[in-house]
Formats: sequence, C-alpha cells, structure tokens
Amino acid sequence: MSRYLFREGVNINNDGNNIIISTPYATRSSPKQQTLCVKDAKEPLKKLLQNLFLDGIESNQTLKTPEKLASTTTSLDLELQLQALYKAGLLIHEIEGSHGIAMRLLPINPGLKQQPCPDINNEFKLSRFTSIEPCLEGLDITSPLAPTTLRLQDHRLYPLIQRLVSPCKLASISPLLPEDLRTQYRDIISLFLSSGMVGICNSEHNAEIDQEAIRAGWNKQDLSFHNHTRRHIIDRCQEELLHRNINRPPPPARNQRIILSTVPLPQPKIKKQDADFYQIIRKRQTIRSYNSNPITLEALGNLLWYSVHTREEIICDPALPRSYEGLLKPVASAGGLHSIELYLCIKQCIGIGSGLYHYDSFDHCLGKMSELNNPCQNMLEMAVNTTCRGPQSASISPGQGQQPDVLIVMATRYERNAILHSETGLTYALILKDAGSIYQQLYLVATALGLAPCGLSFGSSELFEQASGIPSKIECSVGEFMIGNPSQGHSSLMTK
Ligand SMILES: Cc1cc2nc3c(=O)[nH]c(=O)nc-3n(C[C@H](O)[C@H](O)[C@H](O)COP(=O)(O)O)c2cc1C
Repeated sequence: MSRYLFREGVNINNDGNNIIISTPYATRSSPKQQTLCVKDAKEPLKKLLQNLFLDGIESNQTLKTPEKLASTTTSLDLELQLQALYKAGLLIHEIEGSHGIAMRLLPINPGLKQQPCPDINNEFKLSRFTSIEPCLEGLDITSPLAPTTLRLQDHRLYPLIQRLVSPCKLASISPLLPEDLRTQYRDIISLFLSSGMVGICNSEHNAEIDQEAIRAGWNKQDLSFHNHTRRHIIDRCQEELLHRNINRPPPPARNQRIILSTVPLPQPKIKKQDADFYQIIRKRQTIRSYNSNPITLEALGNLLWYSVHTREEIICDPALPRSYEGLLKPVASAGGLHSIELYLCIKQCIGIGSGLYHYDSFDHCLGKMSELNNPCQNMLEMAVNTTCRGPQSASISPGQGQQPDVLIVMATRYERNAILHSETGLTYALILKDAGSIYQQLYLVATALGLAPCGLSFGSSELFEQASGIPSKIECSVGEFMIGNPSQGHSSLMTK
C-alpha cells in the first residue's frame, strides 16, 4: 500500500472560508515559517486536508474517496491540490508491506517532482552523490541534489541499494523484493526516482540527475558542504533538533594555553609615508623567494599588530540570551568571534629564538610553546614542498622553493563558532571565510612592511596537533602563511 500524509511541522488553520497551511520551511533571511493560503476551500478539500493530517490517504484512492463527495471537476481539482502540496514539500509518501512501513520519502525542502516508474528498457541507478546514514527506524539516504530524505525502514530492502549502484532495469529489481512488496515494485521504483536518490541513466551510464554536477567537477563532499551552508530555504524542524544538541555557555574570547616563556613584541612603528593604501593594493603579490637576512622581531611584531591584535573586547548581542564575548581587531571576523588563533613556527628571526610560538593578541606578545620540534620542521618542509605552484612561478618547480623564516599557522577554536552557529549549521563555512579574511590582511600588511608573503593551500592538522600538543578537536589548523624577507629581484614597497 502506498500512502500520502502531511510531514512534521505542517499545520492547518481555518480563516473564514480560507485555509491557511503553515509549512516547516523558512528562509535564511526571514525565520518566519512560510504559509500557503487555499482560498474558498470547499468541503472535499477540507476533508482531504484533514485526512492527510490524521491517517493519510492511500495514493491509489486519492481520487476515489473525494469522488464520493463531489463531481469529476472537483476530483481533478483535488488531484491538483495534492500535487501542489507534494511539490511544496509538505507530503510524506510511504509504502507499506506486511512488515509495516517499508520506505518513506521525507521532504526536507520544497521542489519535489513526482517521477513515474520508467519503461522496461530504461536503465536507472543510484546517484553518485548519495550518502547513507543509519537512524533509529532504518537507513536514511540523502543527496545534496535532492530536496528529500529517503528512509528505508524495512531491512529487506537494503540489498536493493547495493544493486542500484550499477545500472539496472525494472526486470532486475522485482526478484530482489520480498514477496509482499513485489506487487508494488513499480511504486517502489517510482519512489526511488521521485526522491532524487536514483536517476535514469544517460548514454554515459551516469544517472542523468548527476550529469551537470559531474561535468562541473563537483565531488560529493564539496557539494554537500555547499548545499548545507548556502541553501536559501531552511527546515525549522531540523534546526530545532540541531539547537537542542548544544546548550552550554559560549566559550570566552581569551583562551588559556601552556606557555613556557613570554617574549614581548615591540610597539608598532610605521612611518606615515610608507603606508599609501592604494599603492599597497597595487603592489600586493606573492613572493616565494627570500634573501639571506632573516626578518626582525620588529617586522614580525608590526605584521601581527596590524593584522590581528585585539583592539577592544566587547559583548556581542548584549540584549539576547545568547550574548557572548567578541573582539575587535584590524581584520574582520563573522560575528566578532575571532576564533582563529595564530601560531608561529619561527625558523629564524632576529630578536627571538627559533621555536613554536602563540601570538597573544591581547598583550601583543609571543608565548613560546616548544622548541622547533620535528613536527614543526615537517610543517616547514611541507610548506616548501607545496610552494611554487603559483601560475606565474613556472620557472621554479615544486619542491625547489625555500623554507620561510616564519610559517604562520591559523588554528580555529571550533567550539567558539559552533555554539553561536549550532542553529544555522554555518560554523565551518564561516571559519574558512574568517581564514580568507586573515590571508588577505596578512598579504596587505606584509606588502606594506616590505615582507615576502605567501599563502599556502596545503597544511596538516595532524602535524599542527603534534607540534602544539593541542588536541585537534579543540583547536585545529585551517590555513598556513609564509613570511620572510624578499629576495633581491623582488622590489618591495619600502625600497621603491
Ligand atoms: C588561500 C591561498 C592559498 C594559496 N596556496 C598557495 C600554495 O599552496 N603554494 C603557493 O606557492 N602559493 C599559494 N598561494 C599564492 C597564490 O598562488 C597566488 O596568490 C596566486 O598565484 C596569484 O599571485 P599573486 O598573489 O602574486 O597575485 C595561495 C594564496 C592563497 C590566497
């Protein structure tokens, strides 16, 4: 038996002759739940809505039940209304066998399209972007390309998933189904297709629904991350679930860590004429080769001060229960959270010994955490090996670059962002955006100071964990940046 019923979060209210259906959906810009209004609703429609709300209606009886109540025109009208509710992502579609509910299509967004069972000659297969997660009722299959979750509740259907990994035809599906569900094989395949987890194959034996994303080179992880953090419509029921998971006070802006000794940094000194903003922007470039003079503690201090020192400690959202400690720095950060800390692998710098240091942005000093241990050496080596991949550096091949005087590692205190964004799910996306903001700030300030800046793409969270001794779930590295004095060939802003 195949049945439709309203999903969680749908409510119906009467407003005179009109019916207001409130949906579980809202937008990121307006958290108010969206509503649909059915004007001048007649009795058969009211009855249909009530049934969808209570026990649901059998899909093959959709038209039969109301027909008893009204004319063919009304019945057609009801079918259209039902389709509209389905498209709007308000209806669960489920199939039942003798073991109870076998599978359910659970909408998580509007925009569903009902797909008929394909022709016997058509091949179809599982989308390559699907993920499978166990849940209390069975297995949830999701795809960043689909506005649904497909829940397999009857474990006897699990082998189907394995079969659907390769292209199959209708004839190969029916023998895999348990006897009580075999008669419904067309409905089952139609449900798989409607869920967006399975698609008809094209000539390249890919599910046609995947083709655009495959051509554009998307991988599953990126597509899921993108979909999760950039979607416009949100499901309030899902958000409430996420919100319930974290209920702790926000972590403070200042964090304690084990420091062996502290090295104060000189107060910043910049001559006004060195700092024409538009000239700095024009001159900014990546420089990957260094001269033999190490950078000085004064230059390093200037770089850190003008990039990330704490100007002011503030209370953000003071009027809300979620109020939290924020910071103001020269660089911007989403929500003023500034969860990214800077660690410095100093190989050589005049005025300070080599080692791993943490930059204390409040007191403008460096806290020594360890000597330049093996993991630090490995991080410096990794920086060299991933340098010179710049498009304009064709003359230098990878691996022939120089170690920088200082490798700056950006590490995030994930929890600081997580508590604020437990509801929106944007935590990691915003951390990466903050990292981007720091990259550009370091580039511009380093250019202004006549230093050689180079952002890096490759970094190792494991090496940072080994070097710092900080568990990566507490603080994890999300970016690296190299600094040195530019080689002779590179005109710096100061010497021009
Ligand atoms: C986030 C980021 C990552 C980068 N990764 C690397 C890298 O791994 N290796 C490298 O040699 N350059 C790297 N760069 C530097 C770019 O290759 C460089 O910005 C680009 O080639 C343009 O050159 P320009 O900075 O001189 O304008 C990176 C830059 C950024 C912003």
